[in-house]
Amino acid sequence: MTAREIRQEFLNYFKDKGHEFISSAPIVVKDDPTLMFINAGMNQFKDLFLRNTAVKHARVCNSQKCLRVSGKHNDLEEVGVDTYHHTLFEMLGNWSFGDYFKKDAIAWGWKFLTEVCHINPENLYVTVFEGAKEDGLTVDQEAYDFWKNHIPEERILMGSKADNFWEMGKIGPCGPCSEIHVDIRSDDEKAKKSGAELVNMDHPQVVEVWNLVFMEYNRLANGDLEKLPAQHVDTGMGFECLAMVVQGKQSNYDTDVFRPIIDQIVHLTGKQYGHNQETDIAIRVVADHVRAVGFAIADGQMPSNTGAGYVIRRILRRAIRYGYSKLGTNEAFIYQLVEVLALEMGEFFPEIIAQKALIQKVIREEENSFLNTLAKGIERYKSHVNNISGTVIDGNFAFELFDTYGFPIDLSELLARENKLTIDMDEFQSALKKQKDRSRAATALDAGDWVILKQGEGSFVGYDHLMRETKVLRYRSINSKDKSWIQIELAETPFYPEGGGQVGDVGALYFDQEKLVVVDTKKENGVILHHVEKMPSDITAPVKAEVHATKRKASAANHTATHLMHHALRKVLGTHVEQKGSLVTPKSLRFDFSHFQKVTPEELQKISEIVNQEILNNHPLQEDRNANIEEAKAKGAMALFGEKYGDRVRVIQFGESVELCGGIHVSSSAQVGAFILTSEAAVASGVRRIEAITYEKAQGFIKNEFQLLADLRLLLKNPKDLNKQIQGLLNDNNSLNKELEKLQQEKSQDIKAVLLKEVEHISGVNFLAKKLDLSAADAIKDLAFQMKAEVDDLFLVLGAEIKGKPNLTVVISENLSIEKNLNAGKIIRDLAKEIQGGGGGQAFYATAGGSKVEGIERALEKARGFV
Ligand code: SER
Repeated sequence: MTAREIRQEFLNYFKDKGHEFISSAPIVVKDDPTLMFINAGMNQFKDLFLRNTAVKHARVCNSQKCLRVSGKHNDLEEVGVDTYHHTLFEMLGNWSFGDYFKKDAIAWGWKFLTEVCHINPENLYVTVFEGAKEDGLTVDQEAYDFWKNHIPEERILMGSKADNFWEMGKIGPCGPCSEIHVDIRSDDEKAKKSGAELVNMDHPQVVEVWNLVFMEYNRLANGDLEKLPAQHVDTGMGFECLAMVVQGKQSNYDTDVFRPIIDQIVHLTGKQYGHNQETDIAIRVVADHVRAVGFAIADGQMPSNTGAGYVIRRILRRAIRYGYSKLGTNEAFIYQLVEVLALEMGEFFPEIIAQKALIQKVIREEENSFLNTLAKGIERYKSHVNNISGTVIDGNFAFELFDTYGFPIDLSELLARENKLTIDMDEFQSALKKQKDRSRAATALDAGDWVILKQGEGSFVGYDHLMRETKVLRYRSINSKDKSWIQIELAETPFYPEGGGQVGDVGALYFDQEKLVVVDTKKENGVILHHVEKMPSDITAPVKAEVHATKRKASAANHTATHLMHHALRKVLGTHVEQKGSLVTPKSLRFDFSHFQKVTPEELQKISEIVNQEILNNHPLQEDRNANIEEAKAKGAMALFGEKYGDRVRVIQFGESVELCGGIHVSSSAQVGAFILTSEAAVASGVRRIEAITYEKAQGFIKNEFQLLADLRLLLKNPKDLNKQIQGLLNDNNSLNKELEKLQQEKSQDIKAVLLKEVEHISGVNFLAKKLDLSAADAIKDLAFQMKAEVDDLFLVLGAEIKGKPNLTVVISENLSIEKNLNAGKIIRDLAKEIQGGGGGQAFYATAGGSKVEGIERALEKARGFV
């Protein structure tokens, strides 16, 4: 079976058993601060386990894109070194939400592997949770007994909490699990050692293919387990690993999931795969990483310097440097693999085809810029090594290469070895650890357990109300390095939680008479959290929740304007324009979108005109809060890549602009007031950013511009034609400057005559240091060069004041510069200290500027010291 067929068989198998297919969630997580990327198929169902949202389908199956780069489940540095770790991988899974439990999960899992995939049952082992005293849990006898129906008891193994109790993270849903392992070693190997001894021993040929988790607990922040309201099944099977087993390969990279990419790497680099261990590792690194980076960009995550974007950048850079140091690629090449990726994966994940051009552009630019940094790092390395004594490179320098130039330590070690040097690794490790500790401390958040006052699910009433009398459902405290605050969930809330680019509402909660300021509102796993800075004196009191109305209105205007602009952009620039990021605040709007060149002033003008016309057209808000997603799309509603939509969606329409959107809007487009574009720039290759203001901010802006014009008119004594008047002044200024320059040149001729007479002859050098009465830089330069042409063996230092600032010029005849080792560039740096400035130049001509005019005389005096 091809990998595609395997995936399809899996989904069909579970669809036949009443499972609803749910498409993969985008890999970048938006509403869960405990998670940056989707790392398991169950992430998108976390709410369902915790019952924060209602269950629509009790049985679900999918194939989820997952990304594991650090933390509990993976380490980036391992990927590529072996043949089975990946950053991005697909997880096939079937779920039961309060429906079937262990018996069916075990029977179906077993049958799928043995009857559909035809894996020899004799090669399979399963594990069962042995229990854990500290959690008060005993052996999972139930699972054991169900397994006995399918597999001989000697192949049912007991597993520890580390392997057989699955937890999503420090807190959250969890439960005992049973893993299915497969032994793909040769018969000879099997005869030597039983597979049972190699299960969970990191053996590349005795591997876990499937994990069946029986979710029934929630891990609390205090470490305790609490029973979930119902029992669920969460299974996860590594797709790439399953393909390896079914296709009879020994490495995930030998399956048709990776082979086409590897073939292309081989083609592009001229290297071979399977002949040399180092080359193979590098090829695997590149093949793995291009998938992770490609899908992240397709899901809207650009490489950047912070957060999720930084992780993506690090992954890509790791691939680039493996290419650079092991595959001999010193030009961008990884972007060329995207074509193959789209071909292989695009059928199941259409986003990779739709975003192909952008992914290629972004990767290519990242490659070029990082290759540049690597080259600079090597220069830095060379100059550092030239200046060390002994044979040890200090670890702090290796850390600088790592941190600033992205050099992995093995690259630095390689360079060091080539120069017969070593690196102080202890010092390097300690610098690395310090940095890690710093960043961990800066981002660590400590969430206390929920204190529940009232059972129930909170609901959002903010589309229709700005104020609500309600009750607190639950609250908890959050502590970070330098702040702590309280999060409150209300039974009903008018507060819009940050989402879809729009910032969260601010406002106040009144507990009787006591006012607590809501500084932010966020959504986490479906729960709306009001952030307040302290506890009220009586949290059980009835509460009045009130949104800050003016800020809300301003955000709404900016959000509606964003939709109108998105539509205008597609109209003016083309339908390749897609949203790549958006920020809607009460102050302004910011919109990032795919477009491959600068938006011209004419285009910007047009966009602005269209948006303002749509505002004037006074389109009423047409809102459908419960539209069918397919019907909405058919109507032309714009859905975004990287957003996860349910079957029912909210559709927002203003005139021709139709978008799927959960945000807050004005009730008719006229309420946006006015739309003013304030900037257009590039944020990344292929991504542009427009910023704009609307509503009261736009009014304020217009008012200020009018005031500025009025001030200018007054300043210029109310001319009839302001434009003409200013042009006239500029023309006058120009001709006066030219006149001045001419006079200065003439004056400099007179000065030269005097200077020539004042040159002193000191031990073979014709020396002069003098302050001039000239104030045009060009004239001074001319004069200096004329002197140099006329006087042999000249060492000339000129001081001057240009527009109130000190200026120094040093000129030295070429022969003198060599014979007497006088370097104008070096000398000027020394002299510039006297005028509190800096400068530089060549060996025979250099200039400096500064801030201390009084220093000129001292600098001239100091110059004499050089002869
Ligand atoms: N959540 C489990 C895992 O990720 C099974 O899906 O392994």
